[in-house]
Amino acid sequence: MSRLIFSDSPRSALLYAVSDLNPSSVHIVTDTTVARIVLPQLDLPWSAITAIPAGEEFKDLASLQQVWTALIEAGVSRRSVIINIGGGMVTDLGGFAAATFKRGVRFINFPTTLLSAVDAAVGGKTGINFGGLKNEIGAFAPAEAVVISATPFATLPVEQLLSGYAEMMKHALLSGPTQMAELLQFDPVTGSRDTLLQLLERSIAVKERIVAADPTEQGMRKSLNLGHTAGHAIEALAINRGNPLPHGYAVAAGLGIELVLSHLLKGFPSESLRRYIQWLRTAGYPRTSYTCRDYKQLVSLMRHDKKNTCSAEINFTLLSSPGTICIDCTVGEEEINAALDIYRDMME
Ligand code: GLY
Repeated sequence: MSRLIFSDSPRSALLYAVSDLNPSSVHIVTDTTVARIVLPQLDLPWSAITAIPAGEEFKDLASLQQVWTALIEAGVSRRSVIINIGGGMVTDLGGFAAATFKRGVRFINFPTTLLSAVDAAVGGKTGINFGGLKNEIGAFAPAEAVVISATPFATLPVEQLLSGYAEMMKHALLSGPTQMAELLQFDPVTGSRDTLLQLLERSIAVKERIVAADPTEQGMRKSLNLGHTAGHAIEALAINRGNPLPHGYAVAAGLGIELVLSHLLKGFPSESLRRYIQWLRTAGYPRTSYTCRDYKQLVSLMRHDKKNTCSAEINFTLLSSPGTICIDCTVGEEEINAALDIYRDMME
């Protein structure tokens, strides 16, 4: 497991995390946007920096090769430390570069988006996209430390804050009614950064508990896919139409659809479902992005989700109440269509 350091002073937290590992050298991996906006504010004492192009489309073999080449040229050794500074694309790719370079160099993650802080930077999944498939090549390799600060979130656009907050809501639903109520009451856009950092700490603790019980996703870690079977289909539909949605917006809708399914099939309480939908309608997330003409394509996209072990089945993580998790629930097409209908009605 990674050491988690929550701090409102990221520079000192990073200096401390590095000195604790006593490395022979330090190399920073980031992207060009973060290098321009965040690195100058951090004013870190290390000059070896590799900046890959920003954007999910660059989470590929060419960028990985760029990082490996830079590590060789900089003389990075097994006793060095790599610091990945950026969103999920950087922590996934930089983590994989570190895990594979000389069979493994220690690394620290410093997530600069709420989405990467709550998800990608913790839990040890690293990798790149390959052959048109997301995260197809990768390794489980936890960071030595993850430094988490709300400071970089100050420059994030609203849609990135809401996108990350949807993943926090997923953790809250997996945790139980107390955390769910806490998140429903808070506004990540106008609320205080201190409170956001406290909520983030509790949210990451939910993921940490699940990952500690099942680091390589043999069972319980599948619960972290809540909202993602439907969410990935919504996200893919939006990409196919040339109108991409932020990942967390698709997850927020996916959670809504899967909570309806949970209600229909597992008795998830209607009051909790109603409160979730009410929050979604008022917190700034977009209204439903599909119509009944899209159901066939959405179901087909869910069928091809890589979490399914055979393409005839569609597997979901569902809840019988907030905090009560059922993994590996096989659901039929008619039930999915019914959930898509009900969710659409509730969002209107
Ligand atoms: N993003 C889900 C997981 O880390 O397992």
